[in-house]
Amino acid sequence: MTSLEEVAAIRARCVVEAPAAPRPAAHAVTRLQLTRFRSYERLDLGVDARPVVLVGANGAGKTNILEALSWLQPGRGLRGATLADAERRAPSPAPLAQGWAVAAQATGPDGAVRLGSGLDAATGRRAVRIDGEVAGPMALSRHMRLAWLTPAMDRLFLEGPGGRREFLDRLTIALEPDHAVRLAAYEKAMRERRALLETGAPDGDWLAAAEARMAQDGVAVTLARLRTVAALDGASRDRAFPHGFPSAELCLVGGLEARLAQEDPSEVEGEFRSRLAASRARDAAAGRTLEGPHRSDLRVTHAEKAMPAGEASTGEQKALLVGLVLAFARLGRTMPVMLLDEAAAHLDPQRRRALCEAILALGMQAWLTGTDAALFSAFEGRAQLFTVEDGALAPRAA
Ligand SMILES: Nc1ncnc2c1ncn2[C@@H]1O[C@H](COP(=O)(O)OP(=O)(O)O)[C@@H](O)[C@H]1O
Ligand SMILES: [Mg+2]
Repeated sequence: MTSLEEVAAIRARCVVEAPAAPRPAAHAVTRLQLTRFRSYERLDLGVDARPVVLVGANGAGKTNILEALSWLQPGRGLRGATLADAERRAPSPAPLAQGWAVAAQATGPDGAVRLGSGLDAATGRRAVRIDGEVAGPMALSRHMRLAWLTPAMDRLFLEGPGGRREFLDRLTIALEPDHAVRLAAYEKAMRERRALLETGAPDGDWLAAAEARMAQDGVAVTLARLRTVAALDGASRDRAFPHGFPSAELCLVGGLEARLAQEDPSEVEGEFRSRLAASRARDAAAGRTLEGPHRSDLRVTHAEKAMPAGEASTGEQKALLVGLVLAFARLGRTMPVMLLDEAAAHLDPQRRRALCEAILALGMQAWLTGTDAALFSAFEGRAQLFTVEDGALAPRAA
């Protein structure tokens, strides 16, 4: 074969694509209405299921829009804020504490749904509505899947394990909503045990009961996290979807994790309970529980470079994170709405193009922000562009 023929043969092999997997149904927001939310007195925005790009100067109100969407999930939104923080602080003399609201129309695998979330001024508490009916925040995740990446997560691989655990727990909750319940139960039992130890002369039966619940929920929490890690690790290294981002190798490190690799969950649970009982004096002296899934760490490695993620460049870390959330998007039954705040800014032009192409290939409604429309040129008219300025959004040609 001449070298030209060789090249042609290689090219031919490259363009043969793997059969496309059936694309899961995607969630999409079609209308977003804000009332007294952060910098917006009022906003009424209609969009379609294509990606949404928000372009504007620093402080224009781009992240506020993404945050508003993130309140359509259980939890405290992508800024981890309080309900009061999110209320619009208008120049005085406008009174505070009038409440705020985020309302959305969305489509998903079960059809159209109206979601509402906000601060009810009368009660000072969170109010959630689904199709007009009062509901609890946890119910929101049954009607729409959301995932996000924010600049605050840029230091995820550099800082302590707490942020990585939170990241993993949020992804796990999105895949297994029960995880939120088990995690809260574990933490509650741990607080009760600490309060008992602080009394100096704790009731042994009460302590044993708290430790039994910690052991049971602690093992359940660890198993759920391990399932997410295994699925994410596989999806991140799946070459059938070469999305142009580095692959991540994931490993969850902790005492229970190591034991669960070798023993039955019931044995691990019993051992953990015994170890908690044996470490009462030590934990009482420390003022906290020194061992357990609240200390686990998610270790991430840049697979191609066999390098701990924390040692990769800022841009490589961003690319790893983007790759992880794209891998995560493909794990569930349905494609989430993805909020990508300033994600394009750290990426090189090739990766920016890869990001746009991956979003389009997945059929995902991503909401992206940036200070410059040129960052999103790879969408080539296949996204909806808005300029954010003076508390208002104006459509512009993509
Ligand atoms: N509760 C609030 N009430 C009124 N304005 C707020 C509130 N919280 C934040 N802001 C304002 O919102 C602006 C920041 O918006 P943001 O969406 O973060 O901007 P960016 O476009 O840079 O993402 C700032 O000017 C800030 O002062
Ligand atoms: Mg911002």
